Amino acid sequence: MVSLGITLLILSPFLLLLFFSFPILSLSFILLFLLSYLLIFCKSTSRHHRKLPLPPGSLGWPYLGETLQLYSQNPNLFFASKQKRYGHIFKTHILGCPCVMISSPEAVKFVMVTRANLFKPTFPASKERILGRQAIFFHQGDYHYKLRKLVLKAVMPENLKTHVSDVETLALQSLKSWENRSINTFQEMKMYTFNVGLLSIFGKDEYLDREELKQHYLTLEKAYNSMPINLPGTLFHKAMKARKQIAAIMSKILDCRRQRKEERNDLLGSFMSEKEALTDEQMVDNIIGVIFASRDTTASVLTWVLKYLSDNPKFLQAVTEEQESIVRQKEGTGEVGLTWADTKKMPLTSRVIQETMRIASILSFTFREAVEDVEYEGYLIPKGWKVLPLFRNIHHSPENFPDPEKFDPSRFEVSPKPNTFLPFGNGIHSCPGNELAKLEILVFVHHLTTKYRWSVLGPQEGIQYGPFALPQNGLPIRFLRKT
Ligand code: HEM
Ligand SMILES: *[C@@H]1O[C@H](CO)[C@@H](O)[C@H](O)[C@H]1NC(C)=O
Repeated sequence: MVSLGITLLILSPFLLLLFFSFPILSLSFILLFLLSYLLIFCKSTSRHHRKLPLPPGSLGWPYLGETLQLYSQNPNLFFASKQKRYGHIFKTHILGCPCVMISSPEAVKFVMVTRANLFKPTFPASKERILGRQAIFFHQGDYHYKLRKLVLKAVMPENLKTHVSDVETLALQSLKSWENRSINTFQEMKMYTFNVGLLSIFGKDEYLDREELKQHYLTLEKAYNSMPINLPGTLFHKAMKARKQIAAIMSKILDCRRQRKEERNDLLGSFMSEKEALTDEQMVDNIIGVIFASRDTTASVLTWVLKYLSDNPKFLQAVTEEQESIVRQKEGTGEVGLTWADTKKMPLTSRVIQETMRIASILSFTFREAVEDVEYEGYLIPKGWKVLPLFRNIHHSPENFPDPEKFDPSRFEVSPKPNTFLPFGNGIHSCPGNELAKLEILVFVHHLTTKYRWSVLGPQEGIQYGPFALPQNGLPIRFLRKT
């Protein structure tokens, strides 16, 4: 059975093609495909007591069409009709797993904050093996708590303050390299956020192996959504080799630091400093993990910021004026470059970034799994079922944000109600990197708006989901220095 499952997984892209060409003929294949996916993503669900009713909704037939839609389309459309019919909590089937979707602030609080111990994060097996089993995302309890503390220590404001001018140098380098060119905004932003990520992990030094490390990471990244089959020639196999090479580079860096007995305030320093320090393997998994968590996320948000600024000239003007006023304030003080304090004098720009994160909702939802039978509002959430907080739906609900499709940064002049604005999640697994993300976005926008202008090339509408929401084609633009 298992080997059949694996064969089907290898064949799955062809099965998908089959599915679209001969829907009826291939139905049996689809079922087998899902069965095999089940082996990998869904652990067997428990025989739960049936005293309580399950949430409303239909489990229906676990069919692939829905799963594909979920990953490739606007989940708003996907869930809107179900939500309308069943309310803020309903059951359905995706990726061959029974699951419960939630979209009320109360349910989010229950799952992510107050009863977070009953809902563990869950990922497909391939992600776990590529990032490394010891990475923070896959854990609960003591080990998770310790890792989180170490990450937070490296990116707390006290530390970030000392990195502002280095982040600024990286932003200026990127912008300079775009001058007079037509670029793919998302691809270029990924280079900037990669560089900032490496800066926060390794500090300014150790440039030695940085390019090599980047190359191996890029190989790894290609396999994020591949099937976890370790056979020569597969993306997954190449990724496993790249992991070994990253581990080798890391071990050189660790040797070097141990010899010099340096105390450093970067992430690696934090991982090494603790009395109960991490093992080398744990460090590798978590460094790969932090690059993964910080890079595409921040790059997508930055891409959306450019998109919404060019779609809303009024706000581009207002942001530019706010940033120019910071330049003026600094004139004559002899201070060169931005400081942490400067980034706290950008209220309007900050609201534009918040509104961008709300509308774009780059993470449409996240996954949890019930670790035991849980009762919520009289419903049973059975052990082993997935639970999906639907961030995008919460951010686009008129109950939480009136006229939700309108880009209106002024709505953030008052703080949003608890658990209605979740760009960084909430609770024990919420994003520890949010201050770093905000810093690198603000620094970038400062130089972008005061020195450059750009125009969007090609079609202006359309969103792609893969898996982060992005403007169509990554937002191609023509980029010029202001005269
Ligand atoms: C604008 C950019 C970013 C966004 C929108 C974002 C969003 C998120 C969200 C929503 C989560 C929680 C996921 C869940 O609960 O399932 C998360 C977790 C995480 N993020 Fe970010 N993130 C961003 C940037 C960063 C950066 C720059 C770092 C670098 C330190 C980072 C590191 C992490 C880590 C390590 C976790 C896992 C935390 C845990 O499991 O305890 N993120 N992020
Ligand atoms: C971009 O073009 C302008 C005007 O033609 C020129 O002055 C400037 O040096 C160019 N910048 C780069 C980086 O090539």
